[in-house]
Amino acid sequence: MHLASFLTLSVLSGLALSHGNVTIIPRTIQGLAMTFVGHLDVPYGCSVNSDDMPPESPSQNLAALWLRAAFHDVGKFDAEKPEQVVSGLLPNYLNETENAGIGISVATSFASYVKFNYSRADFIALAGQAVVIHCGGPNFNFSYGRQDGIRTTPFTSLAQSLPDDAIHTYDMMKTKLRRLNFTNADIVALVTGSHSLGGAHKAISPHLTDQKFQPFDSTPGIFDNVVFQDALKGKCVTRVDCGIIKDPEMKPLIELYASNQDAFFKQYVESFEKMVNLGQKTSELSSVALDIEVHEKLAEEGSAQAVLAAADAAAGGSKPVATAVASSKSGASGNVVCWMVLVISFLLL
Ligand SMILES: *[C@@H]1O[C@H](CO)[C@@H](O)[C@H](O)[C@H]1NC(C)=O
Ligand SMILES: *[C@@H]1O[C@H](CO)[C@@H](O)[C@H](O)[C@H]1NC(C)=O
Ligand SMILES: *[C@@H]1O[C@H](CO)[C@@H](O)[C@H](O)[C@H]1NC(C)=O
Ligand SMILES: *[C@@H]1O[C@H](CO)[C@@H](O)[C@H](O)[C@H]1NC(C)=O
Ligand SMILES: *[C@@H]1O[C@H](CO)[C@@H](O)[C@H](O)[C@H]1NC(C)=O
Repeated sequence: MHLASFLTLSVLSGLALSHGNVTIIPRTIQGLAMTFVGHLDVPYGCSVNSDDMPPESPSQNLAALWLRAAFHDVGKFDAEKPEQVVSGLLPNYLNETENAGIGISVATSFASYVKFNYSRADFIALAGQAVVIHCGGPNFNFSYGRQDGIRTTPFTSLAQSLPDDAIHTYDMMKTKLRRLNFTNADIVALVTGSHSLGGAHKAISPHLTDQKFQPFDSTPGIFDNVVFQDALKGKCVTRVDCGIIKDPEMKPLIELYASNQDAFFKQYVESFEKMVNLGQKTSELSSVALDIEVHEKLAEEGSAQAVLAAADAAAGGSKPVATAVASSKSGASGNVVCWMVLVISFLLL
């Protein structure tokens, strides 16, 4: 069934630096997925999303930020305490340096304000998965029923738990990825593979680029295997990706995924599920099919050239505050400049 027919759009505007305490209840996984996709459905929504991001946000790549959030939400997983629930806590750790830039994204800032049938962990994982599907990646069932971690869990032994590209050597980053129980295939698929979307921003990663936005690959608005093809041509932006391509354990996987997108997608599904389920009791999760359309003008809008032009336009044009217009067929979308203005679909059942 197509959801657009029973989605109603509602524009809520909060006050300065607060979402207010409006409670939103999307009653189904599919309904919540559609609210996420609605945010991405604006032109260039899989790459530059100046409509939903505040102009002062260092990153304008909402899709890439959500995917990054899904990864960072399990960053405190400790293989020595595999039963310790770690996810759903990202909204409490947005001030840590490793999470720079994420806080401003809808998925994480919004999570604490949504009364959802499911957990914050499900909420954040679903945002990441919706991005992958909507932006051209593999379509796969969503597993749900995750527990949220307890806020007071002492993670003190795991300060700086995630790899930090700015300060760590490649070997150190690999060690940290191993602590997340990632195999070589998981690392290549999840780290380099996720860099199929988005790019580096001078404001967040001055060690990587002096450009406002430097795409990771030549199709930063499309989730595809071009990032591996570019890597084989010697193009890499992050220290971790440049290390992976030189690592004899990893290079054969880069070559495989560069030549075989199906192999990449198959591994990505397996690795993504493993990632978002770290610390969870997988036998207690349920599975639901998602009906998510691919972004309408993916190919035209996803090339590096188009994305850079859109990024420039987003950087140049300071728009008037809070004009909400244009609903699209798949849910909410709007020219929403002020980040306090959220476009939310209520699901009417
Ligand atoms: C939150 O709700 C309470 C009562 O429901 C209200 O008094 C308060 O002003 C609200 N706060 C914001 C920031 O909207
Ligand atoms: C979600 O919550 C609503 C309202 O409480 C309930 O009617 C619905 O059955 C719940 N859905 C699931 C999948 O639990
Ligand atoms: C983040 O904020 C929490 C709570 O406000 C605080 O306890 C913690 O020290 C902060 N962490 C950093 C790295 O600033
Ligand atoms: C660690 O990874 C292996 C291989 O993917 C998997 O079989 C195992 O269940 C994982 N362990 C945990 C605790 O996630
Ligand atoms: C996907 O979810 C549907 C229920 O929505 C279920 O019937 C189907 O078996 C699931 N597929 C997989 C591969 O888990």
